[in-house]
Amino acid sequence: MSVLKIFSADQAQTLASADEHARIASRLHEAGVLFERWQATQPLAQDASQEEVIDAYRQSVERLMQDYGFQSVDVIALGPEHPDRAALRQKFLDEHTHSEFEVRFFVDGKGLFYIHQGDKVYGVMCEQGDLISVPANTRHWFDMGEAPSFKCIRLFTNPEGWVAQYTGDKIARNFPAFEQF
Ligand SMILES: [Fe+2]
Repeated sequence: MSVLKIFSADQAQTLASADEHARIASRLHEAGVLFERWQATQPLAQDASQEEVIDAYRQSVERLMQDYGFQSVDVIALGPEHPDRAALRQKFLDEHTHSEFEVRFFVDGKGLFYIHQGDKVYGVMCEQGDLISVPANTRHWFDMGEAPSFKCIRLFTNPEGWVAQYTGDKIARNFPAFEQF
């Protein structure tokens, strides 16, 4: 189940939470974050190719590409046996920003996004069927957990793909990790 928890940024105190999709979307909208549910238009096998995955969500993908001018789309998958899972997890765990907005659609599995806007931190446990977009230049981090399991569609406006600027702030360590959320 998708879950949103809103925390105070300074004390990491829980101020509000929601697990109903429309409620999560409206609270995230306040923070400039897009949150949608997408439906596959055809059944997908566990080992579906990148093309098959994108094809199953083509209508939604193309709508976003047109609305926001995305140049490219790909599919990333990570499993609990991945030999570099600890290093990959670490890469996204510290607070950072991007000069373009980050868009992820969960075809499968789960992942925990934290978005830091002003005096609040929005923690969102995303699951299969969720699309989340982090606005450009917005502080955030991502926890895939110790045993990651997810498959995501990513959309990019920047041909260089994923480029992060770390803020140097250790705020992420004050908030629940994937397993404790
Ligand atoms: Fe990011």
